[in-house]
Amino acid sequence: MQVGFVATMGALHDGHLSLLKRAISENDRTCASIFVNPLQFDDSRDYKAYPTDMQRDLEILNQYGCDMAFSGTMDTFFPEVDHPDKIKPIHPGPYAWDLEGTYRPGFFEGVATIVDRLFRTVGDCKAYFGEKDFQQTLVVKYLSTQMKFTGINIEIVVCPTVRNKGGLALSSRNQHLGTTQIKLANQIYQALNQTQLAWRSSIRNRNTLTEILQTELKHPQISIDYAEIRNPEDWNSTKLKMNDAIALIAVRIGGVRLIDNLRLNQP
Ligand code: PAJ
Repeated sequence: MQVGFVATMGALHDGHLSLLKRAISENDRTCASIFVNPLQFDDSRDYKAYPTDMQRDLEILNQYGCDMAFSGTMDTFFPEVDHPDKIKPIHPGPYAWDLEGTYRPGFFEGVATIVDRLFRTVGDCKAYFGEKDFQQTLVVKYLSTQMKFTGINIEIVVCPTVRNKGGLALSSRNQHLGTTQIKLANQIYQALNQTQLAWRSSIRNRNTLTEILQTELKHPQISIDYAEIRNPEDWNSTKLKMNDAIALIAVRIGGVRLIDNLRLNQP
């Protein structure tokens, strides 16, 4: 029996549901997890402010035909320890040390530790992740290759980013944005689009593409963590091969941190 798995932190939106629908269509049975993982938050205020509505989420999962949902507490996920500090962290691998890794220290270690536990709980499956969190997809792919050595086979399926009409990638954090801030946040997609247009007009100079990306984000109320061009297949290379490229952005608008990306050579 082929099992599909969708890991979430709840507060479900159409981005999560796109993964769920795809999992349901491609598997005999589908399960989803809902767990706001404290290990991946470096700021306890951010953790406490994370929106939760378990009842609503369970109803949505049920409506869509998800066969099983599971959640838990730190105690149920990590019964072998009596304190979270004693949890043995899982190394997030070679894709985790910069970008999100720089701006959110410990984030990918926290993600890897819970995703490893979730994968072990579900067992062999196809696991669906959103391209919106591109670096996370690299981390979980690495994790799945490591898990093969323990006899667990996880196939990672990466699904396209779901956006609102203005192009803003759906995120649970968007709830914290006011109307003016949402307008500003739409500039993220503008920046990605402009950079893609430049790529399509055959610009391959990394500095030029980066400049276009960053120029579109210039605004006193947008603070850029990073806006970079990488090769998605050659992540850590210092000398970028421009046969393939992805533009990645992380910004803060009014205290809300937003990330997004776009593959420049996608049709
Ligand atoms: P969460 O932010 O809830 O996201 C769960 C999954 O939904 C992730 O794979 C994410 O990439 C995907 N997703 C979120 N917004 C999306 C969008 N607009 N379009 C497409 N997919 C989208 O990512 C996490 O939770 C956690 O780190 C988790 C993997 C569950 C580990 O705790």
